[in-house]
Amino acid sequence: MNPTRRMAPLLAPSLLAADFGNLQSETERLAGSAADWLHFDVMDGRFVPNISFGIPVLQAVHRHAKQPIDVHLMIEEPQHYLSAFRDAGAANITVHYEACTHLHRVVQQIKQLGCRAGVALNPHTPVSVLTDIAADLDLVLIMSVNPGFGGQAFIPNTLRKVAALKELLVDCGSEALIEIDGGVTLDNAQALVDAGADALVAGSFVFSSPDPVATLAQMREQLTVSAERELN
Ligand code: DX5
Ligand code: ZN
Repeated sequence: MNPTRRMAPLLAPSLLAADFGNLQSETERLAGSAADWLHFDVMDGRFVPNISFGIPVLQAVHRHAKQPIDVHLMIEEPQHYLSAFRDAGAANITVHYEACTHLHRVVQQIKQLGCRAGVALNPHTPVSVLTDIAADLDLVLIMSVNPGFGGQAFIPNTLRKVAALKELLVDCGSEALIEIDGGVTLDNAQALVDAGADALVAGSFVFSSPDPVATLAQMREQLTVSAERELN
């Protein structure tokens, strides 16, 4: 084995790209897969120009899920719904920086609920806005497409942004994980990991493939975190 190759990044298939008519079987078939988290995209038609699913659907998915559910709230005023999402089965709750006037309070609320607290940044939002909150975060989600839809093309500037975020987190003494969301495929995934990504969301790449479980296995097999990074 190549000694510079060690562990793999966390994989979070996005259920937004799954077959909604068969969410139970979609969730069940991921149970034995290489997925570490199930990514659950909530859209309100206000923060983003699309509506997806919400609390009762999360509850239903949670009944059949074996992995922790990684809830991405693309909604305005998320503070009103945090405990409902926790009760419905969220393990991670990520809110958007752009949707929270009182972000510090929201992050503390998520942590008090016993969930991992994440903050997502839209493509135009610089990572520097997180300087004074980074140490409180468990997760930073970098949007590599404009939120609202699956199946969009990856924005290449994300790579630069991930590297800048990694530096910021180290400087702030933050242990937050870096998660990337949007347009992730095996063509850009290793570069993202090399830049500092710890977790990758993949919707269409996984679910539009002939065999999503095999695609996740292939990602697990091919993607590696270098020993150098592991030591940092
Ligand atoms: C987009 C969502 C993503 C989406 C990713 O607003 O946040 O999680 O499901 O889908 P793909 O991988 O198809 O870009
Ligand atoms: Zn998402």
